[in-house]
Amino acid sequence: MEPARHCKAQITSEPAGRDGRRLSYILVSRMTPTPPRLTLLDRLIEGLDRGLRTVAAANVAARPNPAGATAESVSEPQARRRAAGLMRVNHAGEIAAQALYHGQALTARNPEVRRALLDAARDETDHLAWCEQRVRELGDRTSLLAPLWYAGSFAIGALAGLAGDRTSLGFVAETERQVIEHLESHMHELPADDERSRRIVEQMQSDEARHGSEARAAGGHELPRPVRELMRRTARVMTVTAFRV
Ligand SMILES: [Fe+2]
Ligand SMILES: [Fe+2]
Repeated sequence: MEPARHCKAQITSEPAGRDGRRLSYILVSRMTPTPPRLTLLDRLIEGLDRGLRTVAAANVAARPNPAGATAESVSEPQARRRAAGLMRVNHAGEIAAQALYHGQALTARNPEVRRALLDAARDETDHLAWCEQRVRELGDRTSLLAPLWYAGSFAIGALAGLAGDRTSLGFVAETERQVIEHLESHMHELPADDERSRRIVEQMQSDEARHGSEARAAGGHELPRPVRELMRRTARVMTVTAFRV
């Protein structure tokens, strides 16, 4: 069946001839597709749906896993537990990243900014799927507190969006900067022979750097120092907790 199309009728007038003796105009009606206008309630329901899919459904990556055919090399039980703990933290971070983007998209004013936030969130779905796969390969589970990470981050994202698009984009840039630093620390903390996790973390770092520079290029403001510090402390609570729970 043909999907319903939301159209805007445009009535324009164009001259029919150039001789000037007879002024004749034709009315041209054009049907131009326009996106449906969503109410705040529609967006909230959309956000709830995205949240449930992020936390409860299996996330499927659109891109191949960067670990590819790299052989599994972590065999010692303690090293496997450590690697799994770190990748569980990264998985929780990706849940939070998705929730921040979804919350920011909910309250974004400019449709272009909203679209860019949702595009970036799709990259985070890949990260989420790769981290989850790696945690399972290591014989462990993802964080039991995933719904809490999602709900808290969604609320923070929605507040950032309410502060205005430039502040919201600045929030993206700062979040990604801190995530890159955090991932860099994991490159040192992962067991020396854990090449599969490292390949995933490297690709994530590269994607987060792109998200950050796109947000800055789109006009993101630098956030005040106390806000940056608060973000760092909040993230620290999550990383320490998700390593264990
Ligand atoms: Fe990510
Ligand atoms: Fe990102």
